[in-house]
Amino acid sequence: MGRFIVRRTVLAVLAASSALLAMPAFASKEKPVIGFSIDDLRVERWARDRDYFIAAAKTLGAEVSVQSADGDSAKQVAQIENLITKKVDAIVVVPKDGPTLYNVFKEAKKAGIKIISYDRVVLTPEVDLWVTFDNVKVGQMQGEALMKALPKGNVYVLKGDPGDNNAKLFNAGAMKAMDPYIKKGDIKILGEQSVQDWLPANALKIAENVLTQFNNKIDGFLAPNDGTAGGVIQALAGQKLAGKVPVTGQDAELAACKRIIAGTQLMTVYKSLNKLATESAKMTVAMIKGEPLPHPTVKNEGVDTMQLEPINITKENIDLLVKDGFYTKAQLGL
Ligand code: BGC
Repeated sequence: MGRFIVRRTVLAVLAASSALLAMPAFASKEKPVIGFSIDDLRVERWARDRDYFIAAAKTLGAEVSVQSADGDSAKQVAQIENLITKKVDAIVVVPKDGPTLYNVFKEAKKAGIKIISYDRVVLTPEVDLWVTFDNVKVGQMQGEALMKALPKGNVYVLKGDPGDNNAKLFNAGAMKAMDPYIKKGDIKILGEQSVQDWLPANALKIAENVLTQFNNKIDGFLAPNDGTAGGVIQALAGQKLAGKVPVTGQDAELAACKRIIAGTQLMTVYKSLNKLATESAKMTVAMIKGEPLPHPTVKNEGVDTMQLEPINITKENIDLLVKDGFYTKAQLGL
């Protein structure tokens, strides 16, 4: 009889725990669960965004389930479907290719999940909030720096991945800054190409080809980020032109900062990833809890947006990255 009760109790406990295991990741408002779907961790910044976001969410009592799509939009759709099945409270997405996510966002919305577009926007009404920087200003800073460094000559323009809406915004800002010089006839745009998947290897190939095509007569490269700048500078180094031809960038990647100090890269744009990730985590948790948003928003491309300010970085003010805790002096070799 006693043994029977023990057995029954054990069975009941087992049944209860397997029922618990079978339940989707429990998403209560006390301990919200956030899915973070990232396009591609091969670009240095996204791993930092992930780490800052997880740390901030933790202090707010939220748990984060991270998925990386490795630059594959079909994989990203499948991963978001998985987060919907898990019944997360919110999905924060760095989209690989916006339009490929329209349907899965509709599913998420039907399931009552909040959708936050992180850094890059997905232009669909299902997005509750876009958290980003002033991307047009990023491009403007690149264009202005290049014009200041030249301010006459032939420029080749690289653009980011065509599926990334930010790539269009960076390019629009840069062209706006260069436009008066183009109109005056001081600057000639030799051509422009998109860098598929933002990959440095693709930027390297493009730069090698255009250097050959124009007999090395390119006076400046507009590169949309540090990864692509790295590819361009490698191509320039192959022609013994590194440091002679200004190249722009953004992200304040460590290698790029070292190139700026060494004089082979003109500038970068620093976007405080800590601030973006921390504020985004706060906004996400507030949305889940139905609380007022802790940060002001503006309408941008028709979407409610939290927009942070980028900072122009050159050799002169690179120590700002140390002051802001982004790198140590030792990391930069200062
Ligand atoms: C981001 C950049 C990044 C690029 C490549 C853009 O959407 O704003 O910071 O370098 O994607 O990942």
